[in-house]
Parts: sequence; structure tokens; C-alpha cells
Amino acid sequence: MSFFEKVPLAPPDPILGLTAAFQNDERKAKVNLGVGLYKTEDLRTPVLGCVKSAEAALLDTEKSKEYLPIDGEKQYLEQMGALVFGKQSWNKEKVRIASFQTVGGTGALKTGGTFLKEEADRSIWISTPTWPNHRGVFFHCGLKVEQYPYYDSKSHAADFDKMAACFEKLQPGTVVLLHASCHNPTGCDPSNEQWAAICELFKAKKLIPFFDFAYQGFGRGIEEDAEAIRYFLNQGLEMFVAVSNAKNLSLYGERVGCLFIVSESSKIAEHILSRVKQMIRTNYSNPPMHGAKIAACIFSTSSLRQKWEDELTEMRERINAMRALLEQQLSAESKRVDFSHLKRGRGMFGFSGLDKSQVDRITAEFGIYMPSDGRINVCGLNRSNIDYVVNAIISVTS
Ligand SMILES: Cc1ncc(COP(=O)(O)O)c(C=O)c1O
Repeated sequence: MSFFEKVPLAPPDPILGLTAAFQNDERKAKVNLGVGLYKTEDLRTPVLGCVKSAEAALLDTEKSKEYLPIDGEKQYLEQMGALVFGKQSWNKEKVRIASFQTVGGTGALKTGGTFLKEEADRSIWISTPTWPNHRGVFFHCGLKVEQYPYYDSKSHAADFDKMAACFEKLQPGTVVLLHASCHNPTGCDPSNEQWAAICELFKAKKLIPFFDFAYQGFGRGIEEDAEAIRYFLNQGLEMFVAVSNAKNLSLYGERVGCLFIVSESSKIAEHILSRVKQMIRTNYSNPPMHGAKIAACIFSTSSLRQKWEDELTEMRERINAMRALLEQQLSAESKRVDFSHLKRGRGMFGFSGLDKSQVDRITAEFGIYMPSDGRINVCGLNRSNIDYVVNAIISVTS
């Protein structure tokens, strides 16, 4: 009998499992709206030009592949601090911010969650709905995971009143995960006024925000997408910020990300730094080097930084163009269902409005793939397949 006889079979990942099913579908007319990646008009995820240039420069100048420090590449962290918090605030506040390069955004969430479990053992509240991995990541940190209401499926908007009513009732010191921009899966973010009110509430109730920031630059712009985080920082709150560069540098497989833990003072930040470093050392020892060096090179070389901003703008504009086109075509075809939220949303994701049985039908009848909650990534669309997708959505909703 095998030592591993009793190991159960885990269910496939809801998102990654979809891609496998899509690839196995032999139909010619098929569309994958389930992926979590940016795709160009020809449905590829190419290496950015700025990344290619940075890699060429690194190939020339890199002298060693020695380990990075436990907390990661210093230049990368400096550049990311300025990008996330704004240069001025970063320079002013960084003494009270413990910073870590992590294994992507997921690694940042996991490191923050592990720290929370060990130092505070508080439950963490996540939005309903949220990126499906949030629950698993925090559960595996040993944290109790609770849910707050986020989305109003009638108006297709963030349900501020319900959210605020839930926050009102939380105990001081409760940790709440917030999507800083481009909420995944709904595409609906609070307005700046609502963020200010949430911040007031957090301050009054002594709640701890844990921002997940995976899409800087994909919503309104690099600076605009960071506004909520910067507002909370300037209001003096302690908080966590988990950042991913997978999407905005298209460096998915290089696993580039970072975690910032903002505390009240430089002394506390020093303690946090030492404790989290200890955890990292016993987990993966130190983070991978290549992606962080690419990012640091791009952000600190003005021509590459400009090239990156241009490429990011192009990505954002394609996302918004696909949102607008989808909404326009669906609204022209259907008088019964309101699709206007698709245009209003931010980032790659939004709800198609299809329920589980309609998702099953669109997949079975048309080879169009999306998770069962009807979330779509508009980057799966292009000018060649959009008519096909629109006809299929109309067919399963009428
Ligand atoms: C909301 C959210 N947070 C975190 C991540 C994780 O990013 P990474 O690939 O850098 O681990 C993702 C990726 O899809 C995401 O959508």
C-alpha cells in the first residue's frame, strides 16, 4: 500500500482549469473569456518592448547571480514604493513602511497573511465576490476568512451602503481586504468620495485595510489607480499593501510583486521587517531575481519608463475599447437586458450577467468559456470574434 494512499484528489482550480478545457475543445469557433491575462488584439500575451530592452541591458551588465537579500532587490522596492504611494509621500513615509519583494502578488498576500496569523491571529474579511484565490490563500495562512457584501447585482455597482453597514459592526483591529482598483471579478470600484468615507469608517472603527493592488495602470491610469491607497496613507492609517507586477509589466511567469506593511513609526516598522524576514527565510529564503531586476531597470531608466507607460496606455485603451464595443453591440441587440455596466467597469473583468445555466449553455453550444459566475475578461475579445460572442450571449439570454 502506498504511503500516499489516502491523499484525496483536489478539485481543479476554477480559472486555470478553464484554460485546460478550452485548449482541449476541438471546435474552430471557440473563445476563452475566462483567462486572467491581458491579451492583444491577436489574442497573444507578448513580452513588452520595455521588458525586452531591459533584459538586453541586464544581459550586458549583470555580473553575478548571487542571492538577493531576504527582503529582495532594494532598487525595485524603492521604485515600487514611489509608484504605489507617490514619490513625495514615499520619501516622507518610507521609514514607517516595511517593504518586501515577494513571489508575485499571491506571495505578497500569503506573506502578509502569515504575518497576520503569527502576530495578531485576527480574522480577515474579503469581499463577496472576490478573486477566488483570496479565500484559499488566507485559509492556508490559518486565518479565519469572513465575507462582506460588495456587489449589487441589480445596479451592477459596488454596494457602498451594505459594505459600510458591515464595516460598522466589525471589532477594532479587524483586517479587511480591499481591491485598490479594477475589482476582480466585478470591475466595479468605489468612487473617490466612497473611498474617503470608507477611510473615515476604518479610522473611527480602528479597522486595518489590506489592499490588494494587482492592476495598477489597467483602470484609469498609473496615478489614478493608486488614489485610494495614497489617500489612506495620507490619513495616517496603518495598512498592508500587496502588489503584483504580473499584469502591468506583463511579467506573469517571472513572479514579480511586493508587500508593504505601513505602521505607525519607524521603530515598529523595524520590528515588522525583522519578523517578516524571519518568516521569509524559513519559507523560500529569498525572492527570485530576474523579474525584479527587469522592473527596477525599467523604472529607473527614463526612456524605458516612458516606453512602459506608453505600452501600459495601449493595454488600457484596448481594454476600454473592448468594453465599449461589447456594451454597444449587446445593447443594440438586446432591449431586455441592461449591459451598460460593462462599459462603466474598470480593468479586464466584469460580469456578463449570465447565470450558471447560461454559462453552461454558452460553453456547450458555442465553445465560449468563462467561470460559472459569468465573469468575463474582455481581453479574450477582439474585432474578429466579438460578433460571435455577442450573438451567443443574446442567444442564451433571450
Ligand atoms: C485580485 C488579484 N490579486 C492578486 C493576483 C495575483 O497576482 P500574481 O500573479 O502576481 O500572483 C491576481 C491575479 O490574477 C488578482 O487578480
